[in-house]
Amino acid sequence: MTSDAQASTGTQGAMPAADDGWRPQDHAARSEFWEGVHDAKEVDGVSWWQSVPGLSLDLVDQAAIPTSAPIIDVGAGWSTLVDHLLTRGYDDLTAVDLSASALATVRGRLPDAGSRLTLTVADVLDLDVGRTFELWHDRAVFHFLTEPDEREDYRASLHRSLAPHGWLVVATFGPDGPTTCSGLPICRYTHDELVAQFPGFDLVATAGEDHVTPWGSTQQFTAVLMRRRD
Ligand SMILES: C[S@@+](CC[C@H](N)C(=O)[O-])C[C@H]1O[C@@H](n2cnc3c(N)ncnc32)[C@H](O)[C@@H]1O
Repeated sequence: MTSDAQASTGTQGAMPAADDGWRPQDHAARSEFWEGVHDAKEVDGVSWWQSVPGLSLDLVDQAAIPTSAPIIDVGAGWSTLVDHLLTRGYDDLTAVDLSASALATVRGRLPDAGSRLTLTVADVLDLDVGRTFELWHDRAVFHFLTEPDEREDYRASLHRSLAPHGWLVVATFGPDGPTTCSGLPICRYTHDELVAQFPGFDLVATAGEDHVTPWGSTQQFTAVLMRRRD
């Protein structure tokens, strides 16, 4: 396990840190950066690790969609969300990430999931998997989008990928949360600020938590459940 200071940088070797003002700004740079993060760490060596993603599961449960409804987790990384959704009986799950090795770890953990779980290496800023989903889940990905054009690209992917009246679960660092994640600058959101990022969606529920990292520090999260208006 890494120390908090190491993990707040989140990368090793020549990867620039946020202090340098560097951040990955195109697909190739993002892929290289995030593959490097996952190659350099154990699953519980990243600040965002949680064995039970309670905040996310609670919001998915509130959507009360049938277990046959397709769900996508963007920027899934090593998250155990899909493990818990499989246990709940969901049988059409897709996990997307820039890191092939992160998704390979998930597949290795869930060898019996078979076709109930699709793993896709892709960039959420340019996502089109050729189908739509009833629920889009994102924990700790949207907050990396510090530029307006990146958030526009994210919303375009969301609109392409979410079915009419589909559900949206987004969790970001809250107003008292860290200012960086994995060494990159992030945007922190209040509930109102997060809701304002998604015009065309109605707020259904708000939630939040002080996430305890594997090394015992806390990170404030803001989360919302929203529903697409049309
Ligand atoms: C802070 S981690 C959160 C992981 C997971 N959602 C969780 O809660 O455990 C951010 C994840 O998003 C992925 N990621 C970052 N930018 C991405 C992008 N543009 N497209 C797809 N995945 C991305 C990273 O590889 C990493 O796995």
